[in-house]
Amino acid sequence: MKILVTGGAGYIGSVTTEVLLSAGHDVVVFDNLSQGHREAVPPAAEWVQADLSSPREIGAAVAMHRPDAVMHFAARSLVGESMAQPFAYLRDNVINGLNLIEACVTGGVERFILSSTANLFAAPESLLIDEDASVAPGSPYGESKWALERALHWISETKGLRYGSLRYFNACGASDERGEHHDPETHLIPLVLQVAAGQREHVTIFGDDYDTEDGTCIRDYIHVLDLADAHLLALRALETGNVIYHLGNGEGFSVRQVIEAARMVTGASIPVKIGPRRAGDPPRLVASSERARHALGWTPRYADLEQIIASAWSWHQRYPNGYTN
Ligand code: UFG
Repeated sequence: MKILVTGGAGYIGSVTTEVLLSAGHDVVVFDNLSQGHREAVPPAAEWVQADLSSPREIGAAVAMHRPDAVMHFAARSLVGESMAQPFAYLRDNVINGLNLIEACVTGGVERFILSSTANLFAAPESLLIDEDASVAPGSPYGESKWALERALHWISETKGLRYGSLRYFNACGASDERGEHHDPETHLIPLVLQVAAGQREHVTIFGDDYDTEDGTCIRDYIHVLDLADAHLLALRALETGNVIYHLGNGEGFSVRQVIEAARMVTGASIPVKIGPRRAGDPPRLVASSERARHALGWTPRYADLEQIIASAWSWHQRYPNGYTN
């Protein structure tokens, strides 16, 4: 198939592009490089530098490349930042996403996969969150993804677009060539590894007074290559209908446990300081991915946190400053 990947210069988008290419698909990356890195785009992918805020630019890309499917990664994606910049998140994520969905319908694209999020669940009622859990977004970021899920539902009903919504829990780890590099970096694992590498003095734990075993927030860390595999499988599943899946390992680790695992992997001491809570952070987000496992035959290959951190560490050691472009 020919797949148009928005945000293919970003972290999850570039790794998924790599995996799609290895599986024999043709990929067109569409990215405005506001956050991504040109260097992260695999050379075998076609490249379009353009902006989803422009219906004309996205319409032209769809008309020119005539993709069989679109995977939509391009978005603002920081929970904490969205609490401070709600307009930017709601406007850019929702409007740009609608521009893209409309261009797909106009251009005859029949399959659409959305990068959605665990931040749809601010206060989950059960320890493992499955697809039947009630949605209550935890931030403007989560709300923007929920708005796009609902938009896809209605565009599917009225226009026949088939869609998959993949709700990622905490993406982490790296492939040999591609890893996590944001500027500024705000994610826990890359920050902890920067401390291990001597590039930062300490990591700040955002709150140690949550109602969890050690007082720090619990997340479900899932390897980016496992997320990429799920996209391949979901694409196939769209032949028979729309799909919504939670993608995680089903095991929660606290911030302190992540830091401890990174100490084991790197051998570094990784000093910590305790800071205040970060707005928008739910105390605990852990997936039940049973539905994806059964329906897609998806089995995460990286179930062990130390193994996941080791892959991120080895990328970090190879590219200590990340991408240069
Ligand atoms: N944390 C710290 N100190 C830091 C950075 C993070 O204590 O310096 C904590 C956060 O408070 C949180 C945990 O580490 O409890 C993980 O934080 P990240 O910033 O790495 O990731 P988030 O859970 O905030 O968000 C990520 C993605 C979102 C996605 C979400 C799904 O950035 O896009 O996972 O759970 F929606």
